[in-house]
This record gives sequence, structure tokens and C-alpha cells, in this order.
Amino acid sequence: MKSSAPGKIILFGEHAVVYGRPALAIPVMQVQVDVEVLDTSRAGIFINAPKINLHAELDALPADHPIASVIHNLFSTLDLPAPAGGLEINIESTIPVAAGLGSGAAVSVALIRALVLYVERSLSDEQVNNLAYEVEKLHHGTPSGIDNTVITYAKPVYFIKGKPGERFKVGKPFTIVIGDTGMPAPTKEAVGDVRRLWLKDPIRFEAIFNEISQISLIARRSIESGMPEMLGEIMDHNHAFLQEMSVSSIELDRLVNAARDAGAIGAKLSGGGRGGNMIALVKKEDAESVAQAIMSAGAKQTIITEVS
Ligand code: PMV
Repeated sequence: MKSSAPGKIILFGEHAVVYGRPALAIPVMQVQVDVEVLDTSRAGIFINAPKINLHAELDALPADHPIASVIHNLFSTLDLPAPAGGLEINIESTIPVAAGLGSGAAVSVALIRALVLYVERSLSDEQVNNLAYEVEKLHHGTPSGIDNTVITYAKPVYFIKGKPGERFKVGKPFTIVIGDTGMPAPTKEAVGDVRRLWLKDPIRFEAIFNEISQISLIARRSIESGMPEMLGEIMDHNHAFLQEMSVSSIELDRLVNAARDAGAIGAKLSGGGRGGNMIALVKKEDAESVAQAIMSAGAKQTIITEVS
């Protein structure tokens, strides 16, 4: 039994989304996790995830290991005993790990769906999403739930914490270049640091979050009404607010500036920050040259993706 899940990228509103403000995210179909569940004659449940160097039997993993907890939570939700054994689970992924592309949530979603097929049961998307969210808490501490939502539905999502994600239509397709700094993006740490700064100066941080909230609203309206070129300026503003929140880095700023210098309409970091990815809004015909400029500025990888 096989299942796949895409990566994701946040367009606007990261961090502020943890404080109840809206954020927009899109699936990134160019990268994905593939999970295969097979019978095997050996006793036990064997998990192979070469990308994270994991080759282990389920029982040997701590109960709060994200992959183990997906399996345990799923079987308890389905009210089934965990399979007695004779199972091999192969997890392949082209999503960079800990880079803000949602690799953890994609593993959860693909694994849940492959196992549900294997036991010949079904779960609604909402149930898949809820289960994946439980596991996100192990990765991130206090996640907003945006990753699991956009990956479960594999559609652009306008997201407010605690509410079901709203799908929105894309009035006119637009092109995004994603640039990976190659630096680890410790989302949990960045979220914790923002929390400490917010506690120290709540008035200033609430004001920043309110500005970002407006940015997300304007972004949604611009995308829906087929005016994606309006996103460039607010992308730049969103990046400036993320810098103020302390979650950018020299590497991210370098890639953002290189993208702008190469003709991007706007650029910002995306996700938890510190490392991980940035995004640039480009005219389709400029995508390759902006991607090259981002690589020359030190990116380890770029992905060009069309949002439609
Ligand atoms: O680093 P990512 O792409 O997993 O995104 C983190 C987004 C935050 O808003 C910083 C945290 C969250 O849980 O929404």
C-alpha cells in the first residue's frame, strides 16, 4: 500500500499565526514523501527512512518518536490493536528535512494514509489532519497546525489557528522561487524566542502581529482577484517584520536581497526562519535567472513552483 504527500511553503503570516493571526500557505508538489507499507515474513514492524538514517523496529523507538507516535495514535483512533508484526514501512522523501518545507507533517500524512489503506479502513481528511496535528506538537511544541492542514488538503490554504483551514481560489497563476539556505531551521527554538520577546514587549509584538494580519488579508484578496503582482511589496514588508522579530539571519537576508537585485517582485523568508527557506515572487520569465542569482548567493537548492 502506498501513499504520498507534498511539501508546503508559507507565503505570508508565519509566527503571527501562532498568535491567532491568519497565514497563507501552498502545497509544493515538486517535492514529496512516499510511504509504502508491505507484508514481510519477519516478526515485527520495521521502519526504513533512509533520509533521516532511521532503520528501526517500532518497539525500539521511544513512544514519543514522531513516526512511532503516528502509528500508535492511528491504531488507537481506528480502535484496532497495533499490528502484531510482519510489516515493513518504507519512507522515501525528496523534501529537505527541517527546512520549513513541512517534511515532518508530510511524513505523518503519507504514513497515516498508507497504513489506513493497509488495514482496509478509511479516514476523512479532517481525521487525517487532526492526527497529523497531534504529531506536529511533538516536532514543534506549540504548532499552529498550518503545515498539516495545507499538506493534508494539498491546496492553497488561508489558515487561522484553531479553525479549519479555508481554501482560497487563485485568480491568476503566479510563480514563486524557493531558495534553501541549507542551514537547519530550528522552528521550535525560533517560536520559543519569539514568545520570550513577545512576553517582554507585548505591545510592540502585538502591533507587529496586527500588521502581518493585514498583510495576510491583502495577500488573500490580491491572489483571489487575480492580481498577484500586488504581493511583491507586502512580501518585502512581511520580511521586514520577521527581521524585527529576530527570526531572519545573515544567510536568509543574503538570499532575499539577491532575489530582489535579480528582479524578483518581492522576497521574504518562509517558515520558522533562522535557516531553512526563503521565497521570491517572480515573473515567470525571470524564474530561472532569479533562481541562479539565489544559488550564486549561497543557496543549496532552489525550487521553482507555479501557484494555481
Ligand atoms: O518552519 P515551518 O515551515 O515548519 O513553519 C513554522 C511556522 C511558524 O508559524 C513559525 C510556526 C507554526 O507552528 O505555525
